[in-house]
Amino acid sequence: MTDENTRPSGPFRFGDRVQLTGPKARLHTITLRAGGELHTHHGVLKHEQLVGQPDGSVVANSGGHEYLALRPLLRDFVMSMPRGAAIVYPKDAAQILAEADIFPGATVVEAGVGSGALSLWLLRAIGAEGRLVSFERRDDFAAVAKANVETFTGAAPANWDVVVGDLATELPQTVAAASVDRVVLDMLAPWECIDVVADALTPGGVVVCYVATATQLSRVAEYIRATGLFTEPDANETMVRGWHVEGLAVRPDHRMVAHTGFLVWARRLAPGAVPPEVKRRASKSSYGDEDVELWTPGAVGDRQITDKNLRKRVREAERAAEGARLAAADAQGEAARHDDGGTEEAGRTA
Ligand SMILES: C[S@@+](CC[C@H](N)C(=O)[O-])C[C@H]1O[C@@H](n2cnc3c(N)ncnc32)[C@H](O)[C@@H]1O
Repeated sequence: MTDENTRPSGPFRFGDRVQLTGPKARLHTITLRAGGELHTHHGVLKHEQLVGQPDGSVVANSGGHEYLALRPLLRDFVMSMPRGAAIVYPKDAAQILAEADIFPGATVVEAGVGSGALSLWLLRAIGAEGRLVSFERRDDFAAVAKANVETFTGAAPANWDVVVGDLATELPQTVAAASVDRVVLDMLAPWECIDVVADALTPGGVVVCYVATATQLSRVAEYIRATGLFTEPDANETMVRGWHVEGLAVRPDHRMVAHTGFLVWARRLAPGAVPPEVKRRASKSSYGDEDVELWTPGAVGDRQITDKNLRKRVREAERAAEGARLAAADAQGEAARHDDGGTEEAGRTA
């Protein structure tokens, strides 16, 4: 994916996708074609004007309006490409690559393929020497994903297979047992696929599940744990908060994407391996008197109020309430007086 013709750098060539930022920061994404033109109500920009120009150039259209031309980055592309299913956001894709330890040359299985956003990140991380097998049970989504990947890479990658069908039934028929380095599951019910994933993974291999809700997180983690075939599952979520950095106005953005999903991951044990028991505290789902003691106000550092102080607070609160009652009564009296005056006035004018 990174030879001289497919590198996402160097002067623009025909066939390149280019993101143009024009007047009022409006974005247009075009694919450079011989004879191609971008028509807007500001004028016409000929594609030829861009060919041979370095990435990051500014060109003017027939109306003299200027456009900044840049090749879209992968994160720009996935955020704007057509979607069948919801995509993995770039912040989570980056984290998946790290937690799943996706490496150049790896054999990776992914399901479901959805819109192909994660497939693009995985393909980039495994490189030309790696192999990606993506499973998707909806053929319409698989078609969207294939088209998206081809649009970005320029051709269907030779090291990528898309299998239409359910991972639970298709995986054992597609890959040899213990031959897969990494598995990434992004689906509603990943626990339904953990058994076949355990068979496909090589010892030491990693499974990562991306799930949207805490109940899915719990269910898949407990399933992984109960198989006894994996290390203890780990989990996390990634929150990214943008910052506005301009002059003295340096502060977090007012808005952020607060929730996308959780990651849970574990490693495949060697066949028959039983990890040494880790001494753990009593399960957090049950508790005894000792635990309750730990949560007494004294133990958690809550200051205890004396009886005398409490009586004083009660008197203060009652005085404040009495003051509020008097103020409300005054206000009512005042309003009534105004009403009477109003009627008299009205009577006089009538
Ligand atoms: C949220 S989407 C995946 C999005 C994708 N990771 C992306 O970044 O574009 C979930 C997909 O999983 C597919 N799916 C759910 N369960 C599946 C299964 N058992 N086998 C194969 N695909 C499955 C669904 O059809 C759906 O397209």
